[in-house]
Amino acid sequence: MWKKLYIYKVGKKFQSLIAHLCKKGMVDIMRKIGVLTSGGDAPGMNAAIRAVTRTALAKGMTVVGVLKGFNGLIHGDIIDLDVRSVSDIIQKGGTMLYTARCNEFRFKEGLQKGKETCLKEGIEGLVVIGGDGSFRGAADLSITQRIPCVGIPATIDNDIAMTEYTIGYDTAMNTAMSMIDKLRDTAQSHDRCSVVEVMGRHAGHIAVNTGIACGATHIITEEMPTPLEEVIERIQNTHTTGKHHFIVVVSEGHGDAKEIANEIEAKTGIESRATVLGHVQRGGYPTVRDRVAASQMGHYAVELLEQGKANRVIGFQKGKLVDYNIKTALTMKKTFDEELYRIAMTISF
Ligand code: F6P
Repeated sequence: MWKKLYIYKVGKKFQSLIAHLCKKGMVDIMRKIGVLTSGGDAPGMNAAIRAVTRTALAKGMTVVGVLKGFNGLIHGDIIDLDVRSVSDIIQKGGTMLYTARCNEFRFKEGLQKGKETCLKEGIEGLVVIGGDGSFRGAADLSITQRIPCVGIPATIDNDIAMTEYTIGYDTAMNTAMSMIDKLRDTAQSHDRCSVVEVMGRHAGHIAVNTGIACGATHIITEEMPTPLEEVIERIQNTHTTGKHHFIVVVSEGHGDAKEIANEIEAKTGIESRATVLGHVQRGGYPTVRDRVAASQMGHYAVELLEQGKANRVIGFQKGKLVDYNIKTALTMKKTFDEELYRIAMTISF
């Protein structure tokens, strides 16, 4: 019955008694947690680290940061986090804990090393901030090594099915939008077509949203594959209505921007240029939406660990925080907003 009695819920005068009972093994509380960022960085990761740290400290826990994702767990790269360690980071892109993709953690040996570090450091729960690859590691650590983990979705791609929102997505879209607006200025000045490749891995969410926001004449994504002839035909038709500059947004991996631009120029006679936005989309100051979502998710992650939950991933559904079993979450399929795509195609010509 003493299981999971949490120190912050009792008055200060009982805290030393609880600490004593704890030492005797009569009370089981979450005393120390770790936090790490893994996979591609995303703006807002720092805000999530801050929220995790400050929430845990407020609950009387000790917090450590694991450096360079699961690599840090394997190699014991750990730093203490106190209330001031996470000052002045909420507005910064990147991640103060560094990040990496860790192949070793896919295997039993890597997982066991991770567990050993947790036991050595007294880490009783771990918050993993990253994408679905990172959640596989978190699930394995929870299930096979019995280290409770909670995942926070952070990726600019917004490609995690159990949540309608991932940290970094809004900032990346706003960065891409502002870059495409600049390209539009020069396309307009020269009567050119600007073909712009945006990130998203296999997902076209950044492409469709920035496409509609920037008035792209066409948007090419995996979910709505379009033959290049159709793109060219649309540009030609639009040209006849008096439009002289064009934006085509292409999601990465769905055609080479340079080849598409060359083809458009060859078939339409409209001078065309290609731009690959690349990693610029991953950097920069996080937007309000990313900072707030990161703060909410960071806070919720610590609450879940405190409640003794393990192998959970947090998300938003209908704007409310939810959590799922990680393995279940990883089997879910993300839907693409086809209606948004259709609207873009209806109004941009
Ligand atoms: O997942 C985020 C992302 O930026 C994708 O959009 C992109 O495909 C990939 O990471 C790039 O990975 P890397 O930073 O390893 O080049």
